Amino acid sequence: MQHMQFHYEYTQKVNKEHLEQISTHLQSEIGELKKSLGLGYETDYAFLNCPADGKALEQVAAVIGQKREHAPTALVVIGIGGSNLGTIAIHQALSGRFYNQSISSPKVYFADTTDPDYINDIRVLVERELKAGNNIILNVISKSGSTTETIANFHVFLELLKKYKPDDYANYVVATTGEGSKLWSLAEQEGFSTLPIPKKLGGRFSVLSPVGLFPLGMLGVNLVQLLSGAQSIIPLCMNEDLLSNPAALSATVLFLHYQQGYNIHDTFLFSVDLESVGKWYRQLMGESVGKEKNKKGEEVNVGMTPTVSIGSADLHSVAQLYLGGPRDKVTTFITVGKSKNDVTVPKIAELKNLVEHIQGKPLAAIMNAIVQGTQAAYKKRDMPFISIGLPEKNAFYIGQLLQLKMIEIVYLAYLLDVNPFDQPNVELYKKETREILANE
Ligand code: PA5
Repeated sequence: MQHMQFHYEYTQKVNKEHLEQISTHLQSEIGELKKSLGLGYETDYAFLNCPADGKALEQVAAVIGQKREHAPTALVVIGIGGSNLGTIAIHQALSGRFYNQSISSPKVYFADTTDPDYINDIRVLVERELKAGNNIILNVISKSGSTTETIANFHVFLELLKKYKPDDYANYVVATTGEGSKLWSLAEQEGFSTLPIPKKLGGRFSVLSPVGLFPLGMLGVNLVQLLSGAQSIIPLCMNEDLLSNPAALSATVLFLHYQQGYNIHDTFLFSVDLESVGKWYRQLMGESVGKEKNKKGEEVNVGMTPTVSIGSADLHSVAQLYLGGPRDKVTTFITVGKSKNDVTVPKIAELKNLVEHIQGKPLAAIMNAIVQGTQAAYKKRDMPFISIGLPEKNAFYIGQLLQLKMIEIVYLAYLLDVNPFDQPNVELYKKETREILANE
């Protein structure tokens, strides 16, 4: 299999010499990552172990086998943040936005908010399946086992399940959580299936663990391809030569621009199905490098703001701002080489004069011209960008992309001197919420 293509277009602000200066500094972190490879889940870089964890894959496959025996028509994924964004990203990238309207089964619903209207809409749809005598699977995912939104929604859907399956509801529940969490103990008591999340594996780095593997496998994603894609990019992302290491190069480009006031990183995806990959990355970058304190505990308030744009729709929304507004953005363009389908603009005589040079052309060729036109405009304005080209949207390349991005963020955090694996300020909101609920 090929690799993704990765390219950085030098600007006046950051050229080859600037990049090479950072290279020496990054070597020790590259060394740390390499060292951690043989150490399983014991280090902070535990996520690097996921693609090669055959035991976890076996465990997940066994639970998928059991749950498939029920021929479920709906899967409800109950989790938030790192516990579901990666699954949404991969599922949508591979199955598209209209998956639930297709004939595929099971349909999937993501319960990741306590917005009552949204949760009720899911409840109505899921109840329809149960009323019709069909089976559903609930997958509650929470590393801590104590996230308010997740546990509240779990109550809602468990109550519904119990109403229709009073005697054997436990057979339809899978709890993915940290061993030793309260949710784990409850799952054992109740007889739910359990899948463990390794202790040192951070939520937003956990998509290739049972967190993402179980629901994705239930939805028909080729897990072996996904994991082998992720595994295949690791050596490249540990290359000591910065210019041949896409993760380190990307992190360095972002870092050098950040130092010069470019504090927004826009991921501009020219594929509707990849929008959720952008949203997954938004959390990865936001929580991992947006920090109040550096590793020495000094107050630094650093972080790049991740944004997501979708081509070509957003060219008619925010491109004016990007091209004409403040010089504060670095862009990563993500494109897909080969679409699954081709659509050609038909030759309709009456429409010929509306827009020239499009009739008879594949939409993919028009999209390609738009991407090239956009990048040419960025170059003219000396706006920094990286381009990543996926040969196609399949599990292998999506695995590569996600793994590359996780490693990139670790390098960026190193350059910014912050810990990528904690999120103390998110914990603050969780604690405050619990206190408010306790006093109501
Ligand atoms: O990346 C993270 O650690 C967070 O975004 C968590 O995934 C999120 O807060 C949900 O936590 P939990 O899985 O414990 O419910």
